[in-house]
Amino acid sequence: MLPVYDKNSKQLFICPSILASDFMHLADSVDKIKDDADMLHIDVMDGHYVPNMSFGLPIVEALAKYTAMPLDVHLMIENPIIWLEEYARAGADSLVIHAEACTHLQRALQIISDAGCTAGVALNPGTPLSALEEVLPFLDMVLLMTVNPGYGGQKYIPGMEKKIRRLRQMLDAQDRPIHLQIDGGLYAGNIKANVAAGANMIVAGSAVFGQEDPAAAIRQLRECSQ
Ligand code: DX5
Ligand code: ZN
Repeated sequence: MLPVYDKNSKQLFICPSILASDFMHLADSVDKIKDDADMLHIDVMDGHYVPNMSFGLPIVEALAKYTAMPLDVHLMIENPIIWLEEYARAGADSLVIHAEACTHLQRALQIISDAGCTAGVALNPGTPLSALEEVLPFLDMVLLMTVNPGYGGQKYIPGMEKKIRRLRQMLDAQDRPIHLQIDGGLYAGNIKANVAAGANMIVAGSAVFGQEDPAAAIRQLRECSQ
């Protein structure tokens, strides 16, 4: 499980995406950020739901054995429901599924919660917030994509702050505490506006692992967010 969202806390969670790390030296990449990052963001892609393929269960298992950091698993896969229990057993702390890729969304969220993981739904930039309405009581986090999923290093889609602001209002109206995570094209130059709009978890791939000193890059992201 990831920590529960606390609306009175100003804590910003920085979630480096290992998609941008050096796969030949994955352990070194984790070591570089472990004291500054709040969790590891793991982008699982199947080549169907998104055009690209990345990695799957064996990497989650290996990371869980190697590090004490929480593992935030973003499943960009079709029909995620059949994989959820295996990812939970592999050591995932959160499981985030795409609303667009899951027919039985409520059932999937229940499976994630029953497996003891933080339950999240991701929405593509073009998917309306109304896709979440009926499952809000079953959610611990929402991941709003600020690029179209499938690749690291893309440009933030202008204007997404408005969607973040509307979502934060929607989430704050619930009895349940719900994280608002954003993902794609985030860097020191745009983090402040996105945090001001209501995001409290920032995924960053290139802005962390694409930098000379990933730990310093995380500290810079925190500074720039205020
Ligand atoms: C995109 C992934 C992202 C990606 C972000 O489909 O979900 O997590 O790694 O990479 P940057 O921060 O480089 O846009
Ligand atoms: Zn992601």
